[in-house]
Amino acid sequence: MPAKQHNQAPPEAPRDCAVCPRLVAYRRENAAANPAWFNGAVASFGDPDAELLVVGLAPGVTGANRTGRPFTGDFAGALLYGTLGKFGFTQGTFDARPDDGLRLVGAMVTNAVRCVPPQNKPVGAEINACRPYLVSRIAALPKLRVLVALGKIAHDSTVRALGGKLSAHKFAHGARHELGGYALFDSYHCSRYNTNTGRLTQEMFEDVFASVRDELIRG
Ligand code: URA
Repeated sequence: MPAKQHNQAPPEAPRDCAVCPRLVAYRRENAAANPAWFNGAVASFGDPDAELLVVGLAPGVTGANRTGRPFTGDFAGALLYGTLGKFGFTQGTFDARPDDGLRLVGAMVTNAVRCVPPQNKPVGAEINACRPYLVSRIAALPKLRVLVALGKIAHDSTVRALGGKLSAHKFAHGARHELGGYALFDSYHCSRYNTNTGRLTQEMFEDVFASVRDELIRG
């Protein structure tokens, strides 16, 4: 069952979304310095029949903000799309370019915040302002059963999008939550920082997706 929330937003923000003044200013700065980059609100990527929705934090400045596809062009994408591939959610080969021909099968990747934030850190008001798009994204996936939140910001926004309470659903790597009729799994974000510091290993990340696969197979 989709979360029942009053929500007027479409599932994707317009590329020139004007809701968050700080993010609009940062986007203009990036566009002035790098006019060939995408520099806009990055739309979700994947299969409209997705049973799995992966929720990231926000576009990286030289990653999704440059290429226009979530997790494409920065370190985090290689681990994310590589892992999705290992568990059968991709066709084609990820090559860090939006025209690499990669397709997601039964999965979609989105972000809690659709525009790149300075220092990779969206503020609370920006996360809240972008949540209606997450609510609509979830509601627009008729086959959706499982979500994976990458990091605490994605977790908190997803719990709220599903109408849950954070006090009842605390972020913890590997945790499984049930809310709004969906299963939500948590993982540390697959960022270069987390993998370099050893907070997240490839094995830990794959364990989360093994649980996701088991959940989807159990039916
Ligand atoms: N790229 C994204 O699109 N999202 C993230 O959370 C990190 C990198």
